Amino acid sequence: MNSKQIAGEKACEYIQDGMIVGLGTGSTAYYMIQKLGDRVAEGLNVTGVVTSKATEELARERNIPLMDLNDVTEIDLTIDGADEVDAEFCGIKGGGGALLFEKLVAHASKKSIWVVGEDKVVATLGTFPLPVEVVPFGYKQVLRQLEYRGYQPLLRHHEDGSIYLTDSQNYILDLQMSEITNPKELNAWLNNLPGVVENGLFLNYASTLVIGFSDGSVEVRDK
Ligand code: A5P
Repeated sequence: MNSKQIAGEKACEYIQDGMIVGLGTGSTAYYMIQKLGDRVAEGLNVTGVVTSKATEELARERNIPLMDLNDVTEIDLTIDGADEVDAEFCGIKGGGGALLFEKLVAHASKKSIWVVGEDKVVATLGTFPLPVEVVPFGYKQVLRQLEYRGYQPLLRHHEDGSIYLTDSQNYILDLQMSEITNPKELNAWLNNLPGVVENGLFLNYASTLVIGFSDGSVEVRDK
């Protein structure tokens, strides 16, 4: 078992009968959803709220009942991955491009658990490029302002060279910052730029980390 599978499956234990559960996106959340599918097949009664089209597809394959985010007042628990997380449980998300829906679902959740491999836990955020979702119209205006600040934005592309589009048909600019010294200030500045839809800084969402290690062990950290 790899560290992602260990973390994903462990976090699934937090899901209880009757819960409305936010279903994260990515290769770690994948294992949680697979495990949840097994539990649903055994009779667990849950309703999922997805954070991406990819997760919706996976949840449907596993027969997990789903509800639209519009139709829930509150989500009991969301389990999602992260690209980096620091000691304050602040993180970068959106490596898989789902940051907007992930933040909407996290914001509607009473509790968020992040499932990560040990390599995602860092002292300072920023080694992982920070995704910023922007509307395609006039996006170069945003790009220039980010360049001016020295953030070295790169427009995300697919391997075949086509421009990456989010589930909302927006673009992603990945910022190469190496170190984010003031995440709170950066988060506010970015989300105040016209054209920016959302950015990948998740500053006050996770209250529990489930960390998988390559030696097969797992650690749960509560904030
Ligand atoms: C999706 O947009 C992301 O926020 C993921 O949750 C994050 O990139 C972690 O992905 P992995 O679990 O695949 O590393």
